[in-house]
Amino acid sequence: MEKVKIGLIGCGTISDIYLQNLTHTFVNTEVYACADLNQDKAKEAAEKYGIKHTWTADEIIASEEIQIVVNLTTPKDHFQICRQALEGGKHVYVEKPLSLSPEQGSELVKLAEEKGLLLGGAPDTFLGAGLQTCRKLIDDGFIGEPLSATAFMVNHGHESWHPAPEFYYKKGGGPMYDMGPYYLTALVSLLGPAELVSGMTRTSFKQRTITSEPLFGQIIDVEVPTHIAGTIQFRSGAIASMITSFDVWSSTLPHIEIYGTLGTLLVPDPNTFGGPIRLRPAQGSEFMEIPAVHQYAENSRGIGISDMADCLIHGGTPRANGQITNHVLEIMHAFHSSADSRRYVELTSTCEQPQPLPYGLVNGHLR
Ligand SMILES: NC(=O)c1ccc[n+]([C@@H]2O[C@H](COP(=O)([O-])OP(=O)(O)OC[C@H]3O[C@@H](n4cnc5c(N)ncnc54)[C@H](O)[C@@H]3O)[C@@H](O)[C@H]2O)c1
Repeated sequence: MEKVKIGLIGCGTISDIYLQNLTHTFVNTEVYACADLNQDKAKEAAEKYGIKHTWTADEIIASEEIQIVVNLTTPKDHFQICRQALEGGKHVYVEKPLSLSPEQGSELVKLAEEKGLLLGGAPDTFLGAGLQTCRKLIDDGFIGEPLSATAFMVNHGHESWHPAPEFYYKKGGGPMYDMGPYYLTALVSLLGPAELVSGMTRTSFKQRTITSEPLFGQIIDVEVPTHIAGTIQFRSGAIASMITSFDVWSSTLPHIEIYGTLGTLLVPDPNTFGGPIRLRPAQGSEFMEIPAVHQYAENSRGIGISDMADCLIHGGTPRANGQITNHVLEIMHAFHSSADSRRYVELTSTCEQPQPLPYGLVNGHLR
């Protein structure tokens, strides 16, 4: 099996599951080198996962061997590292959000196109068994025409568990830029691209106190809205109501629900790969639990990179591609700019609904 060589930049909290899957689950990827500003972290990751080289980010980008640069740094560094990697002739996959602004996101999409390189980004949870089964149910007409949807991501932020949570309250953070990508990528993959957004925002707590180690007791000044409510109109005509919040201690709101002409679909947590999936047809008296029929119900972070590797070997367009991540970035930005301007925002970007994954895949394979 041909393997695509990966250079991974940013060996922090989320890197472990990527490294696990890119070295042990997916058969078409080889992590050839890793880098972190903190060299100890890179060395630890290299030892744990048998990675040949610990280099600097510059060395990874300059290497003739590396084909895909995987950028798992924090949001403020996404744009600059992605641009440098594309300019250096590398295909790029980046954690969410693609960049801090739609202008930066569009610049990366354009640069990748000009250079004939692949650009993609997180999340790839929409390729998991749960959301792929939902896609199949919608495509096969089980709820008729989707008319509307709700999407809710509410919690009290990450300062109680993340070892370095400051970035969640700085530009590029906040609940929309942090968690919106899961919900919006799921909605776009199920309903197609959006065209119009309205939003309202507030910053309910101006400071946050870190209660996790090692920074216990440190205060974070909050620079971004932490409660965002709004509406999205999709090109299909469907309308979604959405709340993302770091200001809510507890709630009973569902993750995503889709309401169609013939029934209602309860979509699983889009920050996971599995179920549960529930369906209630118009004439039904209760919700039925639907088994997740596709592969990849476990934490398969990195499947988007394996899909990109598959496209390099066999041709095609990666499903978690630059167009969709950039479209999602523009939607997230639009919630905020609509609130600032007190007007609807018409989106300028669009994307294709990504191709579904086939049935019956063997674990670790995408064809
Ligand atoms: N932590 C999670 O549960 C989680 C889940 C999903 C996605 N993400 C996303 O993953 C990204 C990283 O999050 P994290 O939680 O792993 O953050 P983190 O702070 O734990 O790790 C980031 C790492 O990147 C390194 N880094 C930063 N700039 C660098 C540079 N220029 N060159 C080399 N290394 C650099 C840092 O030293 C650090 O080790 C973020 O975009 C976040 O939104 C995180």
